[in-house]
Amino acid sequence: MADINLKGRDFLTLKDFSPEEILYMIDMAAKLKAQKKAGIAHDTLRGKNVVLIFEKTSTRTRCSFEVAARDLGMGVTYLDPAGSQIGTKESTKDTARVLASMFDGIEYRGFEQSIVETLAEYSKVPVWNGLTNEYHPTQMLADMLTIKENFGTLKGLKLTYMGDARYNMGNSLMIACSKLGIDFAACTNKAYFPNAELVAQCRKWAEENGSEILLTEDVEEGCRGANIIYTDVWVSMGEPTEVWEERIKLLSPYQVNKKCMDIALSSTGGNTVFMHCLPAYHDLGTGVGRRVYEKFGLSELEVTDEVFESKESVVFQEAENRMHTIKAVMKATLEG
Ligand code: CP
Ligand code: NVA
Repeated sequence: MADINLKGRDFLTLKDFSPEEILYMIDMAAKLKAQKKAGIAHDTLRGKNVVLIFEKTSTRTRCSFEVAARDLGMGVTYLDPAGSQIGTKESTKDTARVLASMFDGIEYRGFEQSIVETLAEYSKVPVWNGLTNEYHPTQMLADMLTIKENFGTLKGLKLTYMGDARYNMGNSLMIACSKLGIDFAACTNKAYFPNAELVAQCRKWAEENGSEILLTEDVEEGCRGANIIYTDVWVSMGEPTEVWEERIKLLSPYQVNKKCMDIALSSTGGNTVFMHCLPAYHDLGTGVGRRVYEKFGLSELEVTDEVFESKESVVFQEAENRMHTIKAVMKATLEG
């Protein structure tokens, strides 16, 4: 561990990091969290500046980058989806060269992974992926820290992901679990299984790290023995509203509800938590949730309110950990 130095590295997907490097960032986040709770200043990056590019909306990721950067002593510039020339009047590679000449690090949230890869290729400063269609790596560090806090370990646990497993969250959880020795199950309609090439790559990592990957349409099989039941929205940012109908039809059997939590809880002796990256549609408290209710008559989507509000739910601990782990990513890549 002592030899690890991530200074100057981009943070685009956990595929690029070894298990030891991932654990190093999680441990650093735990230390930074303890310092913050104890009121110990850790503004070791004073004088540096970062820029946050958001082509999609955000609450957790944006606030985490902003608070973490300030805690580290850095200046922050936020570019909203309409607030810069990116994509419409200036190419990604030109943007990268301009921003890298002014800032010490660049965060990007948006669409294709190829965009954040291009930013990284043309930027001489670290680039951090704040979510693309394919991956959400900063969320993974928060999720793994949360799991470690709850179970005291990562290796040997089982995480079951219910819902759309072929998008950013399903892909990223499968990668994180296979690198850290956690059994991963995608429990969903086969139309939403992760892509075969990524599954094959992750099965190799899982084998090296002593875990397994299961793809199943059977809720009983998927949830049995699960220490973590995880879900995400059925329709992600940037997807057309027309896809709701098919998602509801194919993914409703994979809603996280009391029945699937009971399968997990009864097989782990009560050793199961519920996780969700958030935001979640568990009641009628959102505009999208209300529109779906008016059209399809469903008041709870990927998770029931009962599970969301249950004692097994660790979603707000998970959300807080976004800030501590994002801080670790910036510190590790800017300071070493
Ligand atoms: N989980 C997550 O990335 O949340 P935001 O979309 O609010 O950033
Ligand atoms: N899959 C979701 C994750 C949000 C954090 C989306 O891309 O909208």
